[in-house]
Amino acid sequence: CRVVVLISGNGSNLQAILDGCDDNLNAEVVGVISNKPDAYGLIRAHHSEVDTSCVIAHKGESREEYDARLSIAIEKYQPDLIVLAGFMRILSDNFVSKYLGKMINIHPSLLPKYTGLNTHQRAIDAQDTEHGASVHFVIPELDAGPVILQAKVPVYPEDDAETLAERVHEQEHAIYPLVVKWFSLGRLSMNRNQAFLDGEVI
Ligand code: GRF
Repeated sequence: CRVVVLISGNGSNLQAILDGCDDNLNAEVVGVISNKPDAYGLIRAHHSEVDTSCVIAHKGESREEYDARLSIAIEKYQPDLIVLAGFMRILSDNFVSKYLGKMINIHPSLLPKYTGLNTHQRAIDAQDTEHGASVHFVIPELDAGPVILQAKVPVYPEDDAETLAERVHEQEHAIYPLVVKWFSLGRLSMNRNQAFLDGEVI
């Protein structure tokens, strides 16, 4: 399974997937694409001898134009799976439709709770006792695709957004490589907005 990972920043999830692929003969990260030239994840990719590309947004460029260039960069790698790992751009409907069932994302909340940004602070503000992360298939609607796997963490009274984020991140690094593995083994699919594992609705 040829995997392309899209990033914008630190790339700790990319790192977990690179490490996971070392033990997973079925998946190989063949390319890492960033929209930010200074993303630390690009350095991680270089350390693992994975090819990288940057697709930087041009001034005045429409979302569709950007996504068309992004798609060209992706296609060069002929991927079977596209992994969004902290890729901080909203993707156009056309782009998402092209990769339906082949593109996954990790979101730092227990979806459907807290789509969008600042999820950790929002969980604290709501006095939630539980928070977490979700891996889901990407559909045109933001953070709304069918969930594949979630990890829960407790929220403690003394938590701030940073301590909570750290606890969630740790779980992200456990569940994302596992989902990549499931996909690479052909165990995962999406049909009519539902995710399937081994043919059963998740
Ligand atoms: C993660 O919290 C992920 O849930 C969100 O963006 C963050 C990326 O972190 N989508 P990293 O770049 O993988 O460290």
